[in-house]
Amino acid sequence: MDKGREKTKIWQADQDVDIEDLTFIIPIIISVVLLSVFLLRKYIRWTVQCPSNNRLDGKTVIITGANTGIGKATATELAKRGAKVILACRDRKKGDAVARMIKIKTKNDEIYSYHLDLSSLVAIKEFVDDFTAREPFLHILINNAAWMGPKGTTEDGYERAFGVNYLGHFYLTYLLHDRLKRCAPSRVINVISDSYDKATLNFEDMAMMKYDIYKAYGRSKLAMVLFTVEATRRWMSSQVLFYGAHPGMVCTDLLRNWPGVTGNILQAVSRILFKSPEDGCQTIVYCAVANEIRAQAGKFLENCQLMKIKKIARDKDVANKLWEVSLHLCKLPSETEADSEVIINSKPEAKADGAEDDKKEK
Ligand SMILES: NC(=O)c1ccc[n+]([C@@H]2O[C@H](COP(=O)([O-])OP(=O)(O)OC[C@H]3O[C@@H](n4cnc5c(N)ncnc54)[C@H](OP(=O)(O)O)[C@@H]3O)[C@@H](O)[C@H]2O)c1
Repeated sequence: MDKGREKTKIWQADQDVDIEDLTFIIPIIISVVLLSVFLLRKYIRWTVQCPSNNRLDGKTVIITGANTGIGKATATELAKRGAKVILACRDRKKGDAVARMIKIKTKNDEIYSYHLDLSSLVAIKEFVDDFTAREPFLHILINNAAWMGPKGTTEDGYERAFGVNYLGHFYLTYLLHDRLKRCAPSRVINVISDSYDKATLNFEDMAMMKYDIYKAYGRSKLAMVLFTVEATRRWMSSQVLFYGAHPGMVCTDLLRNWPGVTGNILQAVSRILFKSPEDGCQTIVYCAVANEIRAQAGKFLENCQLMKIKKIARDKDVANKLWEVSLHLCKLPSETEADSEVIINSKPEAKADGAEDDKKEK
């Protein structure tokens, strides 16, 4: 009996030591976790503010998906710099409300909302007809809108992420090329994402039979990167300069259609760790206004600096094939190499374009 009591005492003593150990370790674990989150947040949110003060007075800019997120922040910034800004939005009411808000905030009255649904080729053509009938100029086109979510199709029956994020923008840019040419040197900024480097583009499986939200989104962004490369090769001679801008990880509505618990967790994480849309739009603004990137047409930028693009997205044969396939999907005539304005490695002339000079501004 005595022996039993003794054993219990010893056991209790061990327990005391264990609990003391834990109370000592728990604050350390919490501190390490908080410090890691703090450092990760700082790293993800690190942003270079657009170093150019150039203004865009007298210049017309179209921004797709400008009613929220990065598009809205870009529109506000360019409105501050004096541009006439066209908000191309699929929800006209939301577009009108944002146009009113930007007008009040920036004291720029030249903000207009147009209807554009990138999931419909007919709607895209209607937008272009409407725009070209009302606006004589187009100096900068920002292909920003994007969709991410469960498997779906566009009105024309194409996989939704590919159709909205890439093909719709391809068709839009193609239809606006003449207007951009007329206002040359003009700029097209394709908003890309580093998700492209985990994606593949299988022309035999455009419908993406084994669907995955992130892979479908990544594929659409890979197509945007290839589009930037190929459009530069084909259209550089017309002084329509293409750039790819990666905004970084930004807290926006992009994850809203991601279903289930994963979607909720991702949205919560994005609210804690990701940067604001105002910080996220800086590289896009830089591509729109800076003088020094004229010679960088066809390149990709992140944090207002050149960004390396992986080999997968620099394959000229794939880029050329994607162009031809896109023409076919948009029911446009095929272009042979002989008809197209193919100029490789040509540099644009350093003459005045969409942006006024930094010096003038000062
Ligand atoms: N957020 C990030 O971390 C991140 C990272 C890398 C790249 N990007 C890129 O940044 C760009 C802006 O995204 P965001 O983060 O600002 O996302 P967002 O807040 O979801 O904004 C996307 C915009 O696209 C519009 N849109 C969606 N489907 C459309 C359609 N069929 N026709 C016309 N417009 C359509 C949306 O309109 P509704 O509001 O009507 O749906 C919205 O205005 C995208 O190209 C995205 O890929 C974002």
